[in-house]
Amino acid sequence: MYNIPHLDIPPLDHVSARVQLPGSKSISNRVLLLCALSSGKTQVHDLLDSDDTKVMLNALDQLGCVIERSSSSLHITGIGERKPNPSVLHEIFLGNAGTAMRPLCAALALSGVQAHLTGIARMYERPIQDLVDALKQIGADIEYLGNPGFPPLMIKPSAIHINGPIRVRGDVSSQFLTALLLALPLVSEHQAIEVEVDGVLISKPYVQITLNLLENFGVKVINHDWASFTIAKGSKYLAPKEIYVEADASSASYFIAASALSNGSEPLRIEGLGLNSIQGDIRFVQAAQSMGVRIDAGPNWLDIHPSRSNLQGIELDCNHIPDAAMTLCALALYAKGPTTLTNIASWRVKETDRIQAMVNECSKLGARVEFGEDWIRVFPIDPSNWKIASIHTYDDHRMAMCFALAAFNPDQVPVRIEDPRCVGKTFPQFFETLFSIAHASASHIPVICIDGPTASGKGTLANRVAQALGYAYLDSGALYRLSGLAATKAGIPLEISQEARIAQLIGQASIRFEGDLIWLNGEEVSEQIRTEQMGMNASQISSFKAVREALLDVQRNARQLPGLVADGRDMGSVIFPDSPLKIFLTADALTRAKRRHKQLISKGISANIDVLHSDLLARDERDMSRSQAPLKPSEDALLLDNTLMSIEESVNWVLEQWTKQTTLLKQQKG
Ligand code: DC
Repeated sequence: MYNIPHLDIPPLDHVSARVQLPGSKSISNRVLLLCALSSGKTQVHDLLDSDDTKVMLNALDQLGCVIERSSSSLHITGIGERKPNPSVLHEIFLGNAGTAMRPLCAALALSGVQAHLTGIARMYERPIQDLVDALKQIGADIEYLGNPGFPPLMIKPSAIHINGPIRVRGDVSSQFLTALLLALPLVSEHQAIEVEVDGVLISKPYVQITLNLLENFGVKVINHDWASFTIAKGSKYLAPKEIYVEADASSASYFIAASALSNGSEPLRIEGLGLNSIQGDIRFVQAAQSMGVRIDAGPNWLDIHPSRSNLQGIELDCNHIPDAAMTLCALALYAKGPTTLTNIASWRVKETDRIQAMVNECSKLGARVEFGEDWIRVFPIDPSNWKIASIHTYDDHRMAMCFALAAFNPDQVPVRIEDPRCVGKTFPQFFETLFSIAHASASHIPVICIDGPTASGKGTLANRVAQALGYAYLDSGALYRLSGLAATKAGIPLEISQEARIAQLIGQASIRFEGDLIWLNGEEVSEQIRTEQMGMNASQISSFKAVREALLDVQRNARQLPGLVADGRDMGSVIFPDSPLKIFLTADALTRAKRRHKQLISKGISANIDVLHSDLLARDERDMSRSQAPLKPSEDALLLDNTLMSIEESVNWVLEQWTKQTTLLKQQKG
């Protein structure tokens, strides 16, 4: 997950191959609650691992469920008929997870539990009164601790009496009805229970998921044409032993759109989701098809063909796909005419006011947008008039994921997503997954080059800048160290007469970087290559032309989405001459010797500052005077002398230069 203030996505060209998406949020949280309410143990496969499921699992753990994890599944032993201790107050924090707050409120109110349900500030703006009113009809004791009608809530044990149909509003959020249907079997021992819906029920497909899952847990509910529902007398939750969570159809919408917007010719295969899905958002497939996207589908797969040139504007009532409908707005930016989405009032009470948020951010990209209380009309952006925008995401995962799709713009401008971490709500690995299947022209993938003399701290600086931007990091010095090690292991003397042999050896070597660890031909050598001797060896063979050439492609191939920070001698001059930001980092030799001394001592390696100092001066001299890639700043590099600066100050300085660079690009674009 990108835990950074903002993520700059370079212009993307196409996506390819196949993608496996995480489990559905709606199914995951319903399944978790049903497991908790059942007697017995259920093995849950493919559960979504996200903020919303984490808060649900924490809550269930607090309430006494036994949760055991194995590599690919969870085993949950439910509370079933175990009676809670009514005098224990459970403090339960539910973040901003509506799919946890609503059903837990209902289940706890009917269980004789004492609980204080809290969340983040936005949760306290999301209505819950319709559910609380319905529960109060049958004697539940629920108190608003903040604004009336909104969480936080205090729930106390109470006597439940059911003397007729329970009425609930269905026209604001279907989650109220879902919460009741999930929880009411708790009190259906002596009588059948009727739930009547006031107003026209919205988001019916989500209620259908609830009905399907209840059936999986042994509870049959009769649906009287969405106007009322009957839970049979004596209904009991039965743990199904094993249950599979299908891939999230709402999450799939971003990949369907990405492939539709692709410039490629190959379809993208989405696995784990198909036309027999029980999720309502699978009907995004039809919505996308009506815009002109070509989709082939099987029972548990979808093939999405690039369809950009066929995209048409549509007018669609989106009541049945409230979440995935946001993705249609992203497609609308590329269509031939305007797209109008109606019956989306529920957008106003989601993670943020999504109609307003969508209007604001589409406008920033250059789109004309019209809207009303429960509709939005998005006009396409002229292919040559896309604006570079910094997209505000309102702590709403869907805003971040939708607007990532702006990176496919034909104008080839980058897009900045603020607070990319918000995708954690339902899809923590969203950007990583997108970048794993997306392709961009190499010239669009930014590389920041950091060069400088040995022990100037360029490795640390480059690594930290890479982390701050969510970019990959290339430690090119490590490649020369590895090459020296490979030659030594093969018994080849590190002499110029042997350069062809060493180069050949490098060509055949298997080199793998993973975080801070480095493997050479299957052996982890991260520590081995860090000694002073290995540095000397690297310095020696790095002056061999054939060795430098052998490492050329290895380094260029490190360029990857969303960007790269590369440190080393010739990064800016030879490897990535098109780099938009080149830094030459230096510090006086004594300061560098002291830093190196500290580093070695901290690793338990004995060292002497004076010896290190004279070694560094000698190494500088050799590195500056050699014919191959001599140590000198490239002409367009910015000089940074960090003798008197801390690492943080140096990192911030580079980040400032990077922001200036991006601003410059923005000005050039106009
Ligand atoms: O940065 P370092 O100490 O790990 O680098 C080891 C040696 O390799 C150093 O003497 C410089 C050389 N080198 C190079 O010639 N070209 C690079 N791109 C990176 C390092």
